[in-house]
Amino acid sequence: MKLALIGFGSVGQGLVRLLIEKQAALAQQYGFAAQVTAVITRSRGNLYHPEGLDLSALLTAAEKGSFAGYPDSPDLRRDISAEGVAAAPYVDVVVEASPTDLRTGQPALDLCYTALEHGKHVVLANKGPVALDFVNLMERAKQCGRQVLFEGTVMSGTPALRLAREALAGAVVSQVRGILNGTTNYMLSLMEQGRAYDDVLAEAQRLGYAEADPTADVDGWDAAGKLLILASALFGRTFKLADLDVRGIRDLTPEDLRAAAADGMRYKLIAEASQAGGSVQPVKLPVSHPLAGVSGANNAVTFTTDVLGDVTLVGVGAGGLQTGFAVLSDLLALHRHA
Ligand code: HSE
Repeated sequence: MKLALIGFGSVGQGLVRLLIEKQAALAQQYGFAAQVTAVITRSRGNLYHPEGLDLSALLTAAEKGSFAGYPDSPDLRRDISAEGVAAAPYVDVVVEASPTDLRTGQPALDLCYTALEHGKHVVLANKGPVALDFVNLMERAKQCGRQVLFEGTVMSGTPALRLAREALAGAVVSQVRGILNGTTNYMLSLMEQGRAYDDVLAEAQRLGYAEADPTADVDGWDAAGKLLILASALFGRTFKLADLDVRGIRDLTPEDLRAAAADGMRYKLIAEASQAGGSVQPVKLPVSHPLAGVSGANNAVTFTTDVLGDVTLVGVGAGGLQTGFAVLSDLLALHRHA
């Protein structure tokens, strides 16, 4: 499988690390082998090689901040663009892991359509295109006979979407509710221990949990984007940000959290949606509530179903390697169905 990576931040690098570490096991267990034939970045440069780039050399060059030091070879091209890659031979799957824009979904959204029209599958860790244009994107993929997969857009490597779309197929899901942002959950956990807001936000950024622009995390927009994706995937229509009531954690102080703790309560940033719409807002829960026990960068989601009642999934919600794993799980799904 030949991959073009759009974006080479923590997720793209996480995926490449996994491809290196798991190469033998993936080949042996699943007959899966992947080559990265292109990498497109905003600041490090671009690379394209029809026979595959050297993965270790890619990581080394990325750590140095530029692909300038990536070794030259006869067929290596450095002048290819994202659009060029979406149309290039020697690319089977375009992996979109560039920063999310929840206002327009661009430039990733146009790139998804270009890739589909040139016969490529698309795997997204970037939330924008799926959050904003779910129905059209899926329809176009169907017309092109290609797939758009996006497990990494919600709860990083924890398979929330695969659970909802595959394992729960046949059940009617009436509501989805949970903690969908790792950064704010991590911040709330530390602020409850008395740590200052700015200090814990900086730590979440250092650990690679936060978005490129962390206001998306603290003001609730990242969780809202994930809620749009879950709701669109579950309820089969494109939900809009205007369907949601969104509030983040910016106004919560360590004193609020300590006062809640003194009453046996804990604040969590709760996202919930049903057919009618939804919300993202800080909610005070009794500490005995299952969601109150989800701490650090962990996330949780509860699907309320007709047959099984509540089905809850808890797991890691952010991190480059973990989101890289979600992309890998989508690539393996494409490989299984090839
Ligand atoms: N910034 C996101 C979070 C990353 O903190 O949950 C995972 O999508």
